[in-house]
Amino acid sequence: MDLKNEMDFAGKFIGNDIIGVLNKLIDYKELIMAYDCAIREIKTKVDILDSEFKLKYNRNPISTVHTRLKSDVSIFNKLKKKNLDITKENIENNIKDIAGVRIVCYYIDDIYRIAAALVRQNDVEVLNVKDYIGNPKENGYRSLHLIVTVPVFFSDETKNVPVEIQIRTIAMDFWASLEHQMKYKSNEIDNSDRIVAELKACSEDIFATDKKMQAIRIDIEDRKTDDSDEDVIIEKLKRLTSE
Ligand code: GTP
Ligand code: MG
Repeated sequence: MDLKNEMDFAGKFIGNDIIGVLNKLIDYKELIMAYDCAIREIKTKVDILDSEFKLKYNRNPISTVHTRLKSDVSIFNKLKKKNLDITKENIENNIKDIAGVRIVCYYIDDIYRIAAALVRQNDVEVLNVKDYIGNPKENGYRSLHLIVTVPVFFSDETKNVPVEIQIRTIAMDFWASLEHQMKYKSNEIDNSDRIVAELKACSEDIFATDKKMQAIRIDIEDRKTDDSDEDVIIEKLKRLTSE
C-alpha cells in the first residue's frame, strides 16, 4: 500500500479532515522536493564548469558553492508579506528564491564567465537578471543575481523549476556576510546613518582591491612566455591526471 492509500485507509478510522491535512502536507513536501532537485541540477552544472575551466586554464574560477532551500517559515512569511494565502499555486507563482545557489568566485571576470556559461546551456532559461556589480545597491551590496529555471526529470513528468543564483567574489561575499549580520543590529542603535556610510565605504575599498587583484592576475597571464605545442600537450596531460 503506498502512502496515499494508507492515508485513505487510515481516514476511515480517524476522520477525513486530518487526512486532508496530511495529504496537503504530502503535496507541499513533494513541491519542495522539486526545488531541492533543481538545486542539485544547478550545482552539478557549476561543478562541471569549474572542472572544465581548471583543465583549460589551470586554475579554478570558483572558490565555494553554497546551496540552501528556503525554510517553511520563510516561505510562509514571504507570502504573508505579499498578502497572499498559503497555497501551492501562490508559492509556485510568487516565490522564485526557494532554491538558492550562491557561487563564490575568485575574480570579478570569473563571475560573468560562469554566468554566461550557465545561461548558454539549452535547458537553462533565464527569468531575471540583476547586476548589482554594474549597478551596486545604495548600501554598497555587490553581486550578480540570476533567476533561472532548470528542468527536473521525474518518472512521470518534467518540471521547470526556478532557482535563484547569486554570483560574487570572495571579497563581495565577505562584505555581504558581515553587512547581513550587522544590518539587524545597526537598526536598533543611534548613529546608524554613520554606520551605513562606513559600511558603504568598506564596500568601495573592497571593490577597489578586487579590481587590483584581477589586474595583477591578468598582468601575470600576459607576461607568461608562449609555450611550444609540446609543452601545452604535456601540461594538459598533467592537469588531467592530477584531477
Ligand atoms: P528578496 O529580498 O528575496 O525578497 O528579493 P528581492 O526581490 O529584493 O531581490 P534581490 O535580488 O534584491 O535580493 C535577493 C537576495 O540577495 C536577498 O535575499 C539576499 O540574500 C541578497 N541581498 C540583496 N540585497 C542585499 C543586501 O543589501 N545585503 C546583503 N547582505 N544581502 C543582500
Ligand atoms: Mg531572498
